[in-house]
This record gives sequence, C-alpha cells and structure tokens, in this order.
Amino acid sequence: MSQENLIPLLPVWDQPDTSRIPFWAYTSKDIHKQELEKLFYKGHWCYVGLEAEIPETGDFKRTVVGERSVIMVRDAQGGINVVENVCGHRGMQFCREKHGTVKSFVCPYHQWNYDLEGNLQGVPFRRGVKQDGAVKGGMPKDFNPKEHGLTQLQVARRGGVVFASFDADVEPFEDFIGPEMLAYFDRMFNGRKLKVLGYNNQRIPGNWKLMMENIKDPYHPGLLHTWFVTFGLWRADNRSELKMDRHHRHAAMISTKGEGGKNAQTTNISSFKESMQLNDPRFLDVEMEPWWNGPTAVMMTLFPSVILQQQVNSVSTRHIQPNGHGSFDFVWTHFGYEDDTPEMTERRLCQANLFGPAGFVSADDGEVIEFSQQGFEQKPFHRTLAELGGRDIEDTDHMVSETLIRGMYKYWRKVMGV
Ligand SMILES: [Fe+2]
Repeated sequence: MSQENLIPLLPVWDQPDTSRIPFWAYTSKDIHKQELEKLFYKGHWCYVGLEAEIPETGDFKRTVVGERSVIMVRDAQGGINVVENVCGHRGMQFCREKHGTVKSFVCPYHQWNYDLEGNLQGVPFRRGVKQDGAVKGGMPKDFNPKEHGLTQLQVARRGGVVFASFDADVEPFEDFIGPEMLAYFDRMFNGRKLKVLGYNNQRIPGNWKLMMENIKDPYHPGLLHTWFVTFGLWRADNRSELKMDRHHRHAAMISTKGEGGKNAQTTNISSFKESMQLNDPRFLDVEMEPWWNGPTAVMMTLFPSVILQQQVNSVSTRHIQPNGHGSFDFVWTHFGYEDDTPEMTERRLCQANLFGPAGFVSADDGEVIEFSQQGFEQKPFHRTLAELGGRDIEDTDHMVSETLIRGMYKYWRKVMGV
C-alpha cells in the first residue's frame, strides 16, 4: 500500500485567502495528525528548554517535541543531547521524572542502559546464562547494540536556548529563524547567562494554533486585558510594529510605551485611571534595562513551538505542547540573568504575576482560547475573520492589523498542502 493511501484527504480551503480561516483547521483530528508530522517532526526546530535548566553533567529535563516525549541532557563534555524517551527494547517511556541527574539512563522494565548520548551500553543477560556447563538463552550472536540506541535528535543552541529536531535534514537554526527574527532573539539572549526563576504549567482546552494566533494578534490586548489598560501598560500612544520572517511563520510584536511626557530612565508607570491604584505597587515597579534598546515589550512567536516574551521586566519562554486537536499544555519558564541584582530578580518575579495560568493578564487568554474552541466545535462548517488591516500580508508600523495571523496561515497552507 502506498503512503498516499494511508494519509486521509485533507479538506479544501474554501475561502478566497487566509483572511478567513475555516473552523475545521482547529477541529479536525486528521489535520492535527498531519500538523504533527509536517510541522513538529519535520523541517522545523522545536523549543526544548534553557541550558540553565541542566548546568551539570548528567542533569536532564524531560519535555516534548510535538507529542513525542524527549529528554534534554548535559553530557560529560558539556554538550547537550536530546534523545527520545522510548526504550530501544520494548518501547517503554522509561523516564518518568521531570528533572533529575543521572550517570546513565536505565529503563526499569529490563534494565537496558544508555549513556548520556543515548547509546545502548548495557543489556542484562545479553550472553545468556551458564547452566549445566552450557550457555543458554541471551540475545542472538549478531545483536549489535549500536543499532538499538535511543533516537537522537538534532540539537541547536543559541544564547542559552536549546532547540531540537527529529529531521536530520532540517536547515541550520539561524536560517530557520531568519535574520529579521534573529535580531530580536539575540536582543533577549545576548550571551548573558540565564537564571531560571520558576515555572507555570497549564492545560488549555483549545487547539494549539490559537496560542500562536494570540501572540500574533495585537488587536485584543487593549480590549480584552482590562488590567493592561487600567494600569497604563497598554496605551493608545504606544509605538508599535509587527514584523515577520520571510516565510511569515515567525513574528514579533514590538511595542514601545509612550512616554507621556515622563522621564525616560525609569518608566514610572502609573494607573491610567488615576483613581485606581494597586494595593501592592510592586507589580508595576518597572525599571528600564539597557538591553531593551528601545522597545518596552517584544512578543515573539517561533513557529510552531514557542513564544518568547519580554513584557517590561518579565521575561519567559512559553512552550506549546499539543495533546490532541483540542488541547495543549502551556509551560512557562520564567527566567532572569545571572548578573541581575537581587532587586531586579525580585522585580522580575513580581511582574511574573501578570502571566501564567492565573496571571492578571494571561488568565484572560486561556479563557478566550477555550471558548473559541467551543465555538468552532459547534459550527465546524463556519470560518473566522482575520481581515483587520486589509487582506494583504505585510509588516506594519501599527497594531491595528491581523496581518501576522494571515501570514501564518499562508505558510501553514503551503506546508500542509491545503
Ligand atoms: Fe492576550
């Protein structure tokens, strides 16, 4: 049977362009399976973590690429390997801990043992047992451990961030991200050592693409996130830009807070509604940092797996981990820099309260994604609108556009063959 016969036919894109997106793009199980193959397992680099999460030899973190469980591990040479969490013997997901330190990986089922690069190094009873003066059982004579190691992924490291790919032919990471986005990536990961401050985990009952779209949608923050508006973090006089890579898959929303006549060194952000004040003013204790180099917020989407967030002093990675067409886990890693002062670390931690599953701002996004998915499921023959700012796909110097969403779906259609 040919490969084609195994792949279900995809629906036809029955809209003139990507300014209208069929609901089935979010509700079809077949589409989701193909997205995993064509976007997460082939041709793309997926985020797996920060080097700072595994500083010492043998330190590991269990995570995922798409829906496949993988382990990111530091080896004795200081290298970082990413191996699939599936034993070469009976296929068990042998690693159960989220983080840890090991000398080697051992599958508990039959104690098969792998080094930190995933090479098989030990098979109990490989040469059988001696019984009545004869060797009995064991693996066949031609058993070659080299053929039964863990699947080793391609690994790319830049600025302390680690990406992996199952695709041996994936383009170099720098080409994947492209020069336009690389500048913003390097702004945030400029060589300073990172320091992990903590995690948030949440499961959002919606299609994973909705999270990408949320961070390609500058239309909603000033309307949905009343907290942003009330306390002056989102204002009409913010200067904004929307930029994409040449494939329109990755994007950055760049905004610079209007000074409103105030001094530039410290952006003493006060309440937009002067009558409303926070009981704890530390959440808005913003200090301008030299590396910002202008923008006070840059939100990047690196398609398909990660969002890189700088919102004033809060910096984090947000890892999208799909599980089925209608759900994904969203894992936030809040970090700072090793040379931060204790006051800056405290400031970053306080501002992290705006984000995560119960964040003053981000709680809203989890809910609207859930409710969007509910709308799609009840009316799968319908479509969404993304016509704000016209139907073209182009970088803009304002925020009143859905151009980044149109761009992402243009790329999505091309790769998916829809
Ligand atoms: Fe939002």
